[in-house]
Amino acid sequence: MNHIDQKIRLFHWTNQSAIFSVWDMSSSQWLKRDREVVAQSPYAPPLVLERGRGCELWDVDGRRFLDFEAGQFCMNTGHSHPSVTEAISRQATVLMQIGNRFTTPARIQLAERLAALAPDPLGVTFFCSTGSEANETALRIAKLVTGRFEVVALARGYHGRTASAYGLSSATRRMRRGAGPQMPGIVHIDTPYAYRCPFACGTCDQRCWRHSVEMIDRASSGEPAAVIVEFIQGAGGIIPVPADWAREVRRFCDERGALLIADEALTGLGRTGRWFAFEHTEVVPDIVVTSKALGGGVPAAAVITSREIAAAALAKGFVQSASHQGDPFQCAVALANLDVMETEDLPGNAERMGRRLMDGLRELTARHRLAGDARGIGLIAGLEIVDSDKDGGGETPELAAAVSVACLERGLIVGGLRPGIREGNTLRLAPPLTVSAQEIDEALTILDSALTDVAAASMAGARQ
Ligand SMILES: Cc1ncc(COP(=O)(O)O)c(C=O)c1O
Repeated sequence: MNHIDQKIRLFHWTNQSAIFSVWDMSSSQWLKRDREVVAQSPYAPPLVLERGRGCELWDVDGRRFLDFEAGQFCMNTGHSHPSVTEAISRQATVLMQIGNRFTTPARIQLAERLAALAPDPLGVTFFCSTGSEANETALRIAKLVTGRFEVVALARGYHGRTASAYGLSSATRRMRRGAGPQMPGIVHIDTPYAYRCPFACGTCDQRCWRHSVEMIDRASSGEPAAVIVEFIQGAGGIIPVPADWAREVRRFCDERGALLIADEALTGLGRTGRWFAFEHTEVVPDIVVTSKALGGGVPAAAVITSREIAAAALAKGFVQSASHQGDPFQCAVALANLDVMETEDLPGNAERMGRRLMDGLRELTARHRLAGDARGIGLIAGLEIVDSDKDGGGETPELAAAVSVACLERGLIVGGLRPGIREGNTLRLAPPLTVSAQEIDEALTILDSALTDVAAASMAGARQ
């Protein structure tokens, strides 16, 4: 930080308190500096954010935004929750990190807490830091325990950017171009995606699942180590899997001796109104991965499994060994974060506010030709943007990105879609679980206006 950066120049008055903006530079100046020294992804950042509170964020120019992506699904308790920030500063002064040879009361208490939240027989936790790392851990456990190597994953799924997790992912087409050979033994099967069902069942009769079993049996030994499932597919377009389909997958795993891994990186810890998304089905997985929302902004992840599976893995030599793995800092903050979720009944609020959001989104689909389908559970909702002039409501990434930009211009951050994207047409709406009815209504009003303006602009463009 140089002396110019340190100058205190602006006051931004919010309805909560007077807040100093410490920066002497505008967004555009910061973005120029960013481009010079930070390796850019194909999608350059549109905002320079400075601070947050609950569902709200402010940029360095003092503009306010509603964060309906919850910091990419990590901030279930909202930005800068006082209890979480208090735990962060308290634990930072006591003990941050001890390597992986020791344990601490915080680590033990967090594992006990997760065992209490997860249904039986899920009672033992392996800790790590990110969703990708947790999925790698789950896969290593499954392979070791079953003595097999093949893994079944869903088309459109996303499981992370590390080697195996990336190989399992197919959220966009051609996403592994240039990545070279992937982990052998991966079989991708159909996602039960009712809105775009290629089997056109009308009333679902599990045709996609029967086709998937056919694919598994033709493309592999038919005896995989694991099937990995997002119970609500996130990056692929907010697609909840039907309970009947989940039961078929559970039966398949039991019959074939495979382990069922639930990747709850995105959906876990109250977002759907239950602690885990799989609880909306009657299915209990063998291994559950939870990450993003666990640490309340601090990277923390957990792989929860049964005593039996953990013991089998350890007996076969499984070693979990990373620099950050159940650090006292990670665990103490995660505990405070879970305390907030329980004492403020955030899963209950997610259910109530989720209903309000979904009612509003369905109302938008009834009025707007670009709003094709609204779906989700609790506070993980998707609004699929379509070109209704095309057959079957054609996928229109450009229009979807345009709606997302129009929302941003009006002060609403929605997830997933950026200008220049070539694929993906579902806006992801997932505010912190602390969201109020007023904030939900504000977001719906913004979406309404964004959809109106993008539709008008696209009609005008078509006439030219
Ligand atoms: C379902 C799912 N699994 C895994 C990951 C990877 O998590 P991380 O980015 O923490 O490695 C993500 C990230 O978005 C995800 O959505």
